[in-house]
Amino acid sequence: MRSDTQLKLIDRINTHRRGERGATDTAASTLSVPTTDYTDPARLAEERRLLHATPSLVGLSGLLPGPETYATVNVGDRSVLLTRDANHQVHAMLNVCSHRAAEVADSCGAAARLTCPYHGWTYHLDGTLAARRRAQFFDDVPNVGLTRLPVVEQHGLLWVSATPDFSLDADSLLGGAEDELAPLDLGSYRLFDTRQYSRRFNWKLAVDTFCEAYHLGTLHRETLSPMIHSDFALFDRFGLHGRMVAARRSITELDDLPPDDQQLLPHTTVLWFIQPNTVLIHQQDHIQLFRSNPGATPDENNLAASLYVPPDAPQPDRYWRKHFDLLIEVTDSEDFTTAAGVQRGYHSGAHSHVVFGRNEPALQHYHLGLAELLSNHRDTPAASTVSQL
Ligand code: FES
Ligand SMILES: [Fe+2]
Repeated sequence: MRSDTQLKLIDRINTHRRGERGATDTAASTLSVPTTDYTDPARLAEERRLLHATPSLVGLSGLLPGPETYATVNVGDRSVLLTRDANHQVHAMLNVCSHRAAEVADSCGAAARLTCPYHGWTYHLDGTLAARRRAQFFDDVPNVGLTRLPVVEQHGLLWVSATPDFSLDADSLLGGAEDELAPLDLGSYRLFDTRQYSRRFNWKLAVDTFCEAYHLGTLHRETLSPMIHSDFALFDRFGLHGRMVAARRSITELDDLPPDDQQLLPHTTVLWFIQPNTVLIHQQDHIQLFRSNPGATPDENNLAASLYVPPDAPQPDRYWRKHFDLLIEVTDSEDFTTAAGVQRGYHSGAHSHVVFGRNEPALQHYHLGLAELLSNHRDTPAASTVSQL
């Protein structure tokens, strides 16, 4: 991030810090969305169609750490196979064998070719078919490879659409956030680990929990609140995406520094939510990436949490392991346990609507943006399900 941008953000943080109690970036009004946005199978079907079509930020370039590597990711409920070929070119395909639809690859690794585990058909890294075992028994079947998908690698980020004929416009993916993300040199980061898991709550609640700092002082009273302020945060829009800046308590150390020496990190946590289902968090010395996809019903999700570390970071792997385990532990035992209760609450009939306060502008922008994306993807445009209170 440019230093003048950082100074402006630090100035805004200081205004909140030194201002009246309760000062924070705000929205113009509260916002309510129907609880059925989280519980209705018809809404989930719409969201799934959106997730399959719209560009998804699926990882940093380090997901494919070198030539002849591959990785699988979930996009909606589709498994997508990403590869980097010997010439460093990235490809994306549906992870669906052209014989009888088995998943060709699992997880990630290095390989010059990929072999389907079911009957052993093999594929080049661009998805073309390399060989069919006992090919003579398929002599009247066209020699087709994997179904290719649109993919973009840009600013160290990997984007894919799980719809083959989708037109991915590389210039409009980040809504202007590229000016801040490109200088971070995210393409040089190494993937330390990814954990995939499912929990019993709607996929959007996993994004919601990152989009406000309001809960830090209560839900994370013992864990995060001693380090991070919960009563104020900054919010800025980047198209339908958004960026929050939460101040760590060490922000006071900047008070004694001349402006030229003032930097956001490590005294803030900078969080981007990228529509429709990705959260990228720049912590003190690493990047966390959360992706949330729907499960089989509105009450289940498929989560993927990743930790990427800078190149040549001096810390040993046990340092990153501790960070990663802590990240999973805190989100799971505090945020996601609470979210499972929220999901039950939405089903209880206690409320017809979910309310987002004026002090939760990022959360509001996330839901308004998602409603806009859904509206754009409907065959016949319908009124937004979101209403201002
Ligand atoms: S399903 Fe892949 S080789 Fe048969
Ligand atoms: Fe949280």
